[in-house]
Amino acid sequence: MCGIVGAVASRNIVPILVEGLKRLEYRGYDSCGIAVFDNGELRRVRSTERVSELAEHVERDHVQGFTGIAHTRWATHGAPNTSNAHPHFSGHGRDVPSIALVHNGIIENHEELRAELQAAGYVFESQTDTEVIAHLVHHQYHGDLLEALQQTVKRLHGAYAIAVFCRDEPHRIVAARQGSPLVIGRGKNENFLASDALALAGTTDQITYLEDGDVADVQMGNVWIMDKTGKAVERAVNTVHVHTGAAELGPYRHYMQKEIFEQPRAVGDTLKDVETITPEIFGDAAYKIFKQIDRVLILACGTSYYAGLTAKYWIESIAKIPVAVEIASEYRYRDSVPHPDTLVVTISQSGETADTLAALKHARSLGMEQTLTICNVSTSAMVRECKLSFITRAGVEIGVASTKAFTTQLTALFMLTLALAQVHGQMTDAQEAEHVKALRHLPAGISAVLALEPQIMAWSDRFAAKENALFLGRGMHYPIALEGALKLKEVSYIHAEAYPAGELKHGPLALVTEQMPVVTIAPNDALLEKLKSNMQEVRARGGELYVFADAGTKIVSSEGVHVIRMPENYGALSPILHTIPLQLLAYHTACSRGTDVDKPRNLAKSVTVE
Ligand code: M6R
Repeated sequence: MCGIVGAVASRNIVPILVEGLKRLEYRGYDSCGIAVFDNGELRRVRSTERVSELAEHVERDHVQGFTGIAHTRWATHGAPNTSNAHPHFSGHGRDVPSIALVHNGIIENHEELRAELQAAGYVFESQTDTEVIAHLVHHQYHGDLLEALQQTVKRLHGAYAIAVFCRDEPHRIVAARQGSPLVIGRGKNENFLASDALALAGTTDQITYLEDGDVADVQMGNVWIMDKTGKAVERAVNTVHVHTGAAELGPYRHYMQKEIFEQPRAVGDTLKDVETITPEIFGDAAYKIFKQIDRVLILACGTSYYAGLTAKYWIESIAKIPVAVEIASEYRYRDSVPHPDTLVVTISQSGETADTLAALKHARSLGMEQTLTICNVSTSAMVRECKLSFITRAGVEIGVASTKAFTTQLTALFMLTLALAQVHGQMTDAQEAEHVKALRHLPAGISAVLALEPQIMAWSDRFAAKENALFLGRGMHYPIALEGALKLKEVSYIHAEAYPAGELKHGPLALVTEQMPVVTIAPNDALLEKLKSNMQEVRARGGELYVFADAGTKIVSSEGVHVIRMPENYGALSPILHTIPLQLLAYHTACSRGTDVDKPRNLAKSVTVE
C-alpha cells in the first residue's frame, strides 16, 4: 500500500529517498514518484514502473536536492497512471508550482473540496483525492507552511498521513497524521519522515511515532510537534532496530517460497524465549486481565482472521472460554452487544491494518478495555494501542501473501489458549506438559512437511490448468481450508472457495464435476469417518479429490483420489502443519501460471486504508 519518505538535510537526499522507496516496495504499489527542491525550483519525477526505473530516471536527469519527498502509490482514487502518481504539485492557475505533497489514506470529502477549489480557479491534473489537499494547502498558504497545513487538516474528513514542502520555505517539510501511520526519523543536523521506520533503516534508528491529530514541522536542525489542539508536545524518540536481513532471496525463486521455508525457524523463534507457558508472556498485567475476563473477542482481517477462527476452536475446547471472531471491517460498523469482561484480541502481521485498528478503537469505545494484540511488528500502532501484546518472531514478511506470519500467529494463539486455560483452571499439569511438548516439536514437524514439496509440485501443474477449486476441511481445519483457498486465489488467480465438508451437500456440491479439483484436509481425528463420507459425495459426482491425509488415516490413492500423506498425526496443532502443503500448492500453481507471486495484482502488503 502507499508509502511515504521525506528528508531535510544539507546533503543531496535523493539516494535516501530512493532507498526508502525500495524498502517500502514490498508493501505493494502501482506507481511511484519523487519531488525535490533543486536550484530554486520544485522538480518531480513520477513513474508507473518499478522504483528501480524511477531511480534510473532520477539519475539520468541529475535530479538532486537537500529537501524532498517521495511516494509509492496504491491506487484508490483514479487509475494507476503517471498523472495520478504522487507527489502532487500546486500553484494557482498558470503559476509555477510552489507546493509538493504526498499523502497516504483516503479523504472522504474530496469531491466537495474539489468543487470549492475549482470555483477558486484551481485546475486539477489528476483524479486523486490527494491533489485536493495540495491545492488546499496552497490556497491556505500566506507565508507559513505549518499554518497552511494546520488550516488544511481542519477541512479534511478521513484518514491521512501527509508530507508537504514549499518552494518559498525550502528548508522544512510539514507533516500531519490522522489514522495513517507516520514517523519522524532524527539525524545529526538532518531529519526525516516516513510512513514506516523500515523506510529509514540504514539512515537513522532514532524514531518518533506521531499520534493521530499531530502536525510536525521537520527542519534540518530540529523537529516541532503540535497535537490536535495545536499545543506543542514532546513525543518520545525511540531507538528502533528494524530487521532488514530479510531482503536477500538466497537460493529461492520468490520471497513467498523463502518465507514458506523459513517457517521452522520463524515458529522456533516465536517459541524461543518462552521457557514455560505463563500469562506474563503476554505482558505484566496479563494474569490479572485473564483472570477477570470471561469471554474473548477476536478482531482481524484476511489471513489473520483465519488464525482467529482457528483459535476459537482451541480456546473453547481447551480453555472453555467462549470466543467470538469478527472480520474487523464489519465489526466496526455493526451494532453489537459489548461486555466489559471481554478480552479483545487483535491479530495482525503488520500491526497497521486500518480496519483492525479501527475495530479495536470501536471495541474500546464500547467499554471493552482489556486488549491484547498478536502482532509481528513490535513498533506498530497495534502494539502501542493494546494493553497486552505478544510479538511473533516471523521476521519481515515481504511476500504479499502471508505465510510465516500465519503459522507464527497460530503458534502464539495456541500459547494464549494454554495461558487462558491455566488461569481459568481448565488444564492439568500433565495436559499442559503434553501441549508444550507438541509445541516444541513444531519446527521439526514443519520441516518434515516441507519435504513434501516435490509431490506437491507434481499436483500444481494440474491445478495450473484449472479456473476453479474447492477446499474442504472440518472442525478446526475448516479455517485452514479457508486459508488454503485464499492463498490459491491471491497468488494464482484461480477462483477457490472453502467449505466445512459437511456443508457440501447444502449447495456447493452443485459445482462438482470432473473439472473441479477438491482439495481435502484429512487429519486423523474424530471427524475422519464423516469426512470420508463427504469425500464419497464428491467422487460420486466425478469430482477429483486431492487429499492431504495424516499418517494412519488409511486413505489411499485410487482413481480420482490423489493422496499426499503427512508424516505424522499432529493432534491439536494439526492446523499449523496442514497449512504448509496448502501454501506450497498455491505457490507452485502460481509459478506454473507465471503470475507475479510476491506482488499479486491489485493487492498490497499492508492495508492502511479502509
Ligand atoms: O497485516 P495484517 O495481518 O493485519 O493483514 C491482514 C490482511 O490484509 C492479510 O492477512 C491479507 O489477507 C494477506 N494478503 C493474506 O495473504
